[in-house]
Amino acid sequence: MQNNTLSSLILSFSLLLLPFLASAEAAHSLKVAFANDFYIGASLKSDFVVADNNPQTQLISSQFINSQFNSITSANMLKWGPFNPKPHTFNFNDADKFVDFGEVNNHYVVGHVLFWHNQTPKWVFQKNKSQSLNNKHVSYEQLNREQLLQRMQERVSQLSQRYGDKIDAWDVVNETILSNGQWRKSKWTEIIGDDFAEQAFIIADKYLPKNIELLYNDFGMTAPGRRDAVVDMVKKMQAKGIRVDGIGMQAHWALNSPSIAEIEKSIIAFANLGVDVHITELDIDVLPREKRQFGANTKLRLAMTKQNNPYVNGLPENIEQQLAQRYKEIFELFLKHNNKIKRVTFWGVTDQDSWLNNWPIKGRTSYPLLFNRAGKAKPAYEEVIRLSKSLSDK
Ligand code: GLA
Repeated sequence: MQNNTLSSLILSFSLLLLPFLASAEAAHSLKVAFANDFYIGASLKSDFVVADNNPQTQLISSQFINSQFNSITSANMLKWGPFNPKPHTFNFNDADKFVDFGEVNNHYVVGHVLFWHNQTPKWVFQKNKSQSLNNKHVSYEQLNREQLLQRMQERVSQLSQRYGDKIDAWDVVNETILSNGQWRKSKWTEIIGDDFAEQAFIIADKYLPKNIELLYNDFGMTAPGRRDAVVDMVKKMQAKGIRVDGIGMQAHWALNSPSIAEIEKSIIAFANLGVDVHITELDIDVLPREKRQFGANTKLRLAMTKQNNPYVNGLPENIEQQLAQRYKEIFELFLKHNNKIKRVTFWGVTDQDSWLNNWPIKGRTSYPLLFNRAGKAKPAYEEVIRLSKSLSDK
């Protein structure tokens, strides 16, 4: 065969392949793969905004985030403590950059979180120091219910004025129900009472723009006691005309628990309330776990041993495959219920920036996400992409 005939044959063959190559490439993105199903998001830490110039964090460049995700959640920068550590002191910079990034790149932006028992400074619950200064002894006087409600209103009203509907959804309350269904004991429930969550949603509805979605977020949402209590709480709010638009299941899960059946029960129970289900903080821990580690009790701290940090030099192939299989089963379930699930958000982008490297044991080597430490897609990513129904339409 002559050279030019061979080249033209190769050329026509490549041209024929082009559409397939293009679609395979286009689908090599989570947001493209699940475009017809749900938003795909990641939580971003404040250093992501400088990632493009920072060799430490450049794996999560804006371009990378925008190519894979169409939703972002603020990991810390909008929590009360990081945002407003002292009375009248605000860290606007990181939060502003996060919100602007979301707006410019057309993300579904999630504000996390208005009211939580963690990462909330003590001053929030106290009268300003000057009011209670008693000679040498500074005695802090606790706010009463009305004063604390007033302080909550001030926070929401300020966030609303600053960000308005650039933030599409807010986690209004995080983690106020225990796995046995009781209210969590916190300064919120101590000072305000059992209607703390109700009051929080009333305030969010009053001060935020009406098109912003209001979510209740919690961990261990497959525990039957918590599941039933969340359903009960939302039903009661609905009966009183209090708006709740969605329920966030954090989804800090492990290789073998919770079971797919329990996850499914919760998705169905929450969707039956007529609200959207959001998977808000997905990661799968492959490291050895103790029972008390289930969920996300961020105060828990355990000592590091060789046994509980076994994969310092890389994840063994069999565990890599188990992780891929687990993600596959979880996404199969999400796709089955894509009419109920509005968003699936990972807690972090790469294994390198996962909180599970430092919780509940500081300095472990963890592998919970779809992108490895070098920012490369893992077998779990390939499994998840392969599943997407929307592949065939693209
Ligand atoms: C909880 C919180 C998040 C984050 C994670 C751990 O799930 O909702 O804000 O702190 O714990 O990083």
